Amino acid sequence: MKDYKDIYKEVDRKIKSIMTSKRYQHVIGVVNTSSKLADIYGEDVQKCRIAAIFHDYAKQFTKDQVQQTILEYCVKLDILEKDSIQLSHSKLAAEIAKKEYGIYDEDILNAISFHTTGRAYMSMIEKIIFVADSIEPGRKYPGVEAVRDLAFHDINKAILMIYKHTITHLLNSDHKIHPDSVTARNYFIDKNKEVNI
Ligand SMILES: [Fe+2]
Ligand SMILES: [Fe+2]
Repeated sequence: MKDYKDIYKEVDRKIKSIMTSKRYQHVIGVVNTSSKLADIYGEDVQKCRIAAIFHDYAKQFTKDQVQQTILEYCVKLDILEKDSIQLSHSKLAAEIAKKEYGIYDEDILNAISFHTTGRAYMSMIEKIIFVADSIEPGRKYPGVEAVRDLAFHDINKAILMIYKHTITHLLNSDHKIHPDSVTARNYFIDKNKEVNI
């Protein structure tokens, strides 16, 4: 069985060849940021690096590649995911990690699978990838510095700020909001209250 370092190198070479350099730089930003967060929150750095290098693997797939992956790996997508590569690329990447690269660690697969929407009861690795995706150095949006600062001190509060930003953006641009994001936001509102009691 290949170890995570070999798989990382293999995926790194692959994504470099199928992504724009801007997207690749984003992925490397997520790898580096997730490693730092893993150190701070006592998580497995190798697992975070693997989840991060895979997370946007399918983001630039053509419609044909999306269809082919769905059919080949029997990927189950919900109605919103079927409609949007913004949502489906997470699920496709998780299936590719499992079926093409032999990643069976549920925590890694879930971190890839839920990196766009997040979800309630996320594990620490899931939280790290979700947050790293939003705060890597290439990310620029109003308030990103505040989220970056918070991410290294209180990851649950950082997640709530990310939802505030992304859901506001989705509302303002008349886009649909995935129910996992809404449920997760409600969960993290309660979670942050718990901590403050
Ligand atoms: Fe993504
Ligand atoms: Fe990403």
